[in-house]
Amino acid sequence: TKVQVAIIGAGPAGLLLGHLLRAEGIEALVIERASPDYVLGRIRAGVLERTTTDLLDRLGLSDRMNAEGLPHDGFNLADGERLIRIDIAALTGKQVMVYGQTELTRDLMDAAPGRGLEIVYEAADVALHDIESDRPSVTFQKDGSVHRIEADFICGCDGFHGPSRQAIPASAGQAFEKVYPFGWLGILADVPPCNHELIYANHENGFALASMRSKTRSRYYIQVPLTDQVEDWPDDRLWDELAVRLGPDAAASMTRGPAIEKSIAPLRSFVFEPMRHGRLMLAGDAAHIVPPTGAKGLNLAASDVAYLSEALIRYFQQSDSDGIAAYGPRALARVWKAERFSWQLTTLMHRFPDTDPFARRMQMAELDYIASSTAAQTTIAENYVGLPL
Ligand code: FAD
Ligand code: DHB
Repeated sequence: TKVQVAIIGAGPAGLLLGHLLRAEGIEALVIERASPDYVLGRIRAGVLERTTTDLLDRLGLSDRMNAEGLPHDGFNLADGERLIRIDIAALTGKQVMVYGQTELTRDLMDAAPGRGLEIVYEAADVALHDIESDRPSVTFQKDGSVHRIEADFICGCDGFHGPSRQAIPASAGQAFEKVYPFGWLGILADVPPCNHELIYANHENGFALASMRSKTRSRYYIQVPLTDQVEDWPDDRLWDELAVRLGPDAAASMTRGPAIEKSIAPLRSFVFEPMRHGRLMLAGDAAHIVPPTGAKGLNLAASDVAYLSEALIRYFQQSDSDGIAAYGPRALARVWKAERFSWQLTTLMHRFPDTDPFARRMQMAELDYIASSTAAQTTIAENYVGLPL
């Protein structure tokens, strides 16, 4: 089989890219290793930037998001005692949308058949071939036979552990990486949120985050050592620790309930350069990872594919390959700024093994400065709502 664009991975990056290409009549096939239920079962991002919601609006795929999502005008930083509100609407004129990655993915999946976007699920042994030639291909196993898809371009949207980045020879690229000495333990529960806006808290015991999926479903996280297991944190212990770290006011309004989901994710900053090698382009987590503190991962996947779809549309509609050459540098300029913001907010809000009393006072002084300075709040707000494309 021959298609114009073969997309590996049916996460947010792959599905959004597929829809953006289909909207311009370009043939795209998405090849995914997992099943639809597996993809929908992963509880991940919760906060969408305007740049991301604009893409969904443009595609005409935002009806459910606009009906069920929660637009937020601000969020809070906490030092365990008080809330410092960052009024993003007043400071930037923009809002963010609280709408789960699961829901966004479901909307993109449901719309695929009607828009001629074919997705092959449960494809095993996905492999890339001849990416340095102008006839690259992807092979995979499905239903007991081997399939080969020839394409003009392959887009690697297969997340951090996928085969696409690995297909680029080591000599052709460079990875930049920082691994943090802790993870986030997340809990999802059908209880009302403790606050109408998110709270990112820096406490002596470590970071905590109060988030939500709806008015009746809450999502919380705490920083834990990498050696901890989910089994170390029965629900009661986790709720007790959240109450301590989020501070007395949030604790007083917190409703406890049984966990629907509980998992630990490690924190990492990672960028692979370049984002294109021959006829292979990387997008989303396949090319870069941010620690989750700034809520940037899914939003970067969306901005990557906004740039990438533009480049591919220009190639197929105007036979102009300049956009393809410019894709990586253009995407990376935005990626690095989001890396910087995510790293900085992570550094400000977490307890590190070397957070000695001086370092702790520096964190408290910075939070106190942010509380008193509109300039500092504006810097945080404009990064949080998303830098312009
Ligand atoms: P993925 O979602 O990882 O999708 C990649 C797809 O490729 C997967 O479906 C995978 O099964 C498939 N795949 C892998 N290997 C193969 C293979 N061999 N063959 C075929 N397919 C393959 N981001 C935000 O913007 N805001 C947030 O609030 C936020 N919170 C987060 C909280 C947590 C706990 C975590 C873990 C992440 C969070 N993120 C957040 C990050 C966000 O979830 C990711 O950045 C986002 O999922 C990236 O999308 P993607 O499509 O690039 O990759
Ligand atoms: C959520 C996750 C984040 O990483 C973040 O910064 C904000 C919210 C969430 O899952 O709700």
